Amino acid sequence: MEQASQAIHDFNGTGLSILEIGHRTAHFQSVMDEAISAVKQLMQIGENHDVLFLHGGATTQFMEVPMNLLDEQATAAYHVNGIWGKKAATEAALFGKVNVVADSSDRNNTYIQKDFSISEDASYLHITSNNTVEGTQWHHFPQTNVPLVADMSSDIFCRPADYNRFALIYAGAQKNMGAAGVNMVVVRKDVLGKVKRRLPTIMDYQKHIAAGSLINTPPVFAVYVSMLTLRWIIQEGGLTEMGKRNEAKAGLLYHTIDSLPIFKSTVEKEDRSLMNAVFFLTDPSLETAFLDECKKEGMVGVKGYRTVGGLRVSMYNALPLSSVEAICSLMQDFARRKG
Ligand SMILES: Cc1ncc(COP(=O)(O)O)c(C=O)c1O
Repeated sequence: MEQASQAIHDFNGTGLSILEIGHRTAHFQSVMDEAISAVKQLMQIGENHDVLFLHGGATTQFMEVPMNLLDEQATAAYHVNGIWGKKAATEAALFGKVNVVADSSDRNNTYIQKDFSISEDASYLHITSNNTVEGTQWHHFPQTNVPLVADMSSDIFCRPADYNRFALIYAGAQKNMGAAGVNMVVVRKDVLGKVKRRLPTIMDYQKHIAAGSLINTPPVFAVYVSMLTLRWIIQEGGLTEMGKRNEAKAGLLYHTIDSLPIFKSTVEKEDRSLMNAVFFLTDPSLETAFLDECKKEGMVGVKGYRTVGGLRVSMYNALPLSSVEAICSLMQDFARRKG
């Protein structure tokens, strides 16, 4: 954040602000090049994939993915274990047929449904790798014969994995990558160019690849902040190190929840998210008091999402272990006094 704010005053000693440099200058090209090569390095992506930085939030990708990959008469498989997957499936249905192959709403989306089948001729299988609101996460990605597409908005760069297995990965930047306003898309070129519909230029991945994500003015500052964050992840030790830190943070928090009867987690243990821990007070009438204490200690955003309720602690890459230690000691103290 310090580097980003410095660049607002003076970008790399140019005397220009990052907010005013031309997006077709060598200055910005070097930012875009570094961001793209950092993604390839971190995810160990091979030559078959391209990396794009595109306008908008992940919600834009809910439509851009089916526009590019799903013909009107074809069917895409959607694995829906939470509100974001549901929204993605709803958007896709505007462009083709959608088969919801898994839906964990029978148990309040507290688990990742692994027992499902997809037809061989599905255009792709879409999953949400981390259910931000419900606090579940895929820890072993599904094996499929059809192209695998993932919304990784809330757990991108949180751990190492075989990312080459995916036909397409997308993520809004604002959680683990940078500032709001930009999407990262990693796409395997061979899945593109197959749909019959005519695509608006700005929605066409192939055109974005050809133009190096510079069809029009990109969100320059958001790409710059992503580049700085990606550089930081590399300097810190890459995805292996991020994975270790995230395991340590989540391990501590879940251990604290499980060891204090005053708190309870309803999420299936094997599907618990490293990024978003969703849990409750066993006695809901204590919730306001606990949230007030969090607020007093400067811990914000602990209230659960409005559709789920309870508590949600988000532990994105940038959150240090000390912050998790702080909330765990508050939880222990609260349990001693109220339990
Ligand atoms: C998993 C997931 N997908 C999609 C979105 C929507 O992202 P945006 O607000 O960038 O459109 C979010 C937002 O939190 C998310 O967590």
